[in-house]
Amino acid sequence: MSEEADAVRRHYETETDEDTRLRGGLGRIELWRVQDMVRRYLGAGSRRVLDVGGASGVHSEWLLGDSHTVHLVDLVERHVAAARDRLEGVPGFSASVGDARQLPVADASQDAVLLLGPLYHVQDREDRVAIWREAARVLSPGGVVVAMAISRFASLFDGLTHGYLFDPEFRAVVDADLTDGRHENAHGRPGWFTTAYFHRPEELAVEAADAGLDVLETLGVEGIAGWIDHLAPRLDDAADREVVLEAARRVEAEPSLLGLSPHLLCVARRPD
Ligand SMILES: C[S@@+](CC[C@H](N)C(=O)[O-])C[C@H]1O[C@@H](n2cnc3c(N)ncnc32)[C@H](O)[C@@H]1O
Repeated sequence: MSEEADAVRRHYETETDEDTRLRGGLGRIELWRVQDMVRRYLGAGSRRVLDVGGASGVHSEWLLGDSHTVHLVDLVERHVAAARDRLEGVPGFSASVGDARQLPVADASQDAVLLLGPLYHVQDREDRVAIWREAARVLSPGGVVVAMAISRFASLFDGLTHGYLFDPEFRAVVDADLTDGRHENAHGRPGWFTTAYFHRPEELAVEAADAGLDVLETLGVEGIAGWIDHLAPRLDDAADREVVLEAARRVEAEPSLLGLSPHLLCVARRPD
């Protein structure tokens, strides 16, 4: 467990730039689709939102712009410092270093909890259910959790798209991923991610239900567009961007296609 958390911290401290990932290229599809889906559930009016695994605050920023109150929690100090640099002083913003398994937040104090990241990195099922349960604890009755996972098939499709799959060592990693969802990058190869768990689409709802939540739906985030690199320039054009986003929206709930999306999103409600 702590080895897992150490690997995750190391990865995010040194290897990725979460601040730019969603602001350019195909990452923008993930940003805009998550925005679209989260807004559907927050509705009109100001809500208390907990952004768990919020990194440097890419989602917190637009949530604050939508007049919500946002508390960001992240395991990685560097991320929380970056979020504070950008958002400190914006009315309604606060942040703390913390773990999704033990949130530094009072019971029933939030209207919505975003888990956009923490479930990616927990291989043990009981620990994942504990994260869902912790989200339920801090939600007020009727509040929603919006949780994202990486698809079981993501490394296979990523390997095809970016050529890693032609390396036998990567194919062995993919074999393991497809077998039980446990992803390892034992030799720290750049671009091969870190210790992670890749969900089958149907697993998310079962985990949430086991934590006592009422599951509303599981959706595909990017659809096939998430794998098509040459679409990135299209996103600079408003009309073309809408075509790409609508292509994802059109099949977001199609069970036979869910696992094709790089990311899956499950929405669940704390019972009244
Ligand atoms: C891929 S990033 C996602 C960042 C952002 N939420 C987004 O959607 O782009 C995953 C984030 O989750 C954080 N994280 C991973 N495990 C966590 C845990 N157990 N508790 C809190 N944050 C965690 C990481 O530090 C990282 O900032």
